[in-house]
Amino acid sequence: MIKPLRKAVLPVAGLGTRFLPATKAMAKEMLPIVDRPLIQYSVDEARAAGIELFCMVTGRGKTELVEYFDVAYELETTLRERGKREALQALRDSSTAPGTMVTVRQQVPLGLGHAIWCARAFIGEDPFAIMLPDDLVLSEVPCLKQLADAYYETGGNVVAVVEVPRAQTNRYGVLAIGADDGRLVEVKGLVEKPEPAKAPSTLSIIGRYVLMPSVLRHLANLERGAGGEVQLTDAMARMIGEGPFHGLRFEGHRFDCGDKAGFLEAQIAFALKRPDLGPMVRAFLPRYVAS
Ligand code: UTP
Repeated sequence: MIKPLRKAVLPVAGLGTRFLPATKAMAKEMLPIVDRPLIQYSVDEARAAGIELFCMVTGRGKTELVEYFDVAYELETTLRERGKREALQALRDSSTAPGTMVTVRQQVPLGLGHAIWCARAFIGEDPFAIMLPDDLVLSEVPCLKQLADAYYETGGNVVAVVEVPRAQTNRYGVLAIGADDGRLVEVKGLVEKPEPAKAPSTLSIIGRYVLMPSVLRHLANLERGAGGEVQLTDAMARMIGEGPFHGLRFEGHRFDCGDKAGFLEAQIAFALKRPDLGPMVRAFLPRYVAS
């Protein structure tokens, strides 16, 4: 029986060194794309995929991420008194229902695998999604919804994958591929950040996963891997053969907002999609690109 997917883990305890000094006193996941912080996009995408329960894995200096999901009742009262309806609506979208978001601390940033392991009490015996808020996907059907649909088809683990240039495989978890129908790929092996010459393919994992809870057992027994961190990819590699394990070539465009150029590209792409901003952005962009 395929268990329903209701839980998501949002690891947000990383140091965000690529965005220093901005991230010296604020969480990377609070950086806005247009007018919404990265974390809001993740929560909205998760809700659209049927997720009801959230666990943020936070760390030092990430308190505002927790406060962000509070109801700002004083502010709401003021806005209501002043008749600011649109602003009120924007606020409403940014809180979660009572009791649906918990946080755990990752006291030391020992890697993504360690962050997920810190959420073990929340995960329990259930399948769960992982969303890395700095990966944004612009698509017709929200990326996690595509993953959830694939999970209900196949059961087992499903990870979102994209083709990357071979020169960039050393930034990703990379798949060794079995059967491939062009959409779903059977995962035969996984390597974290392989050198281009040694990469088994160029199909790489981005920050959306649906995993079985047995990954926790493997995470508990892992040594530190690439970069001295506990690697989620290494734990997932040990799950191959336990049950179905697929990569999904999702529909949509992914932006790596943990990277400065990716972040800027996302600003433009998301602004162009907005009816209130798109025409303005389209009008001023040529001024900056004309040679
Ligand atoms: P990144 O590899 O982007 O690392 O983490 P980072 O620390 O956030 O940023 P840079 O590379 O220093 O600029 C991918 C995701 O895993 C989380 C991050 O918060 C991010 O969502 N993470 C990473 C943790 O929660 N804990 C860790 O120990 C490492």
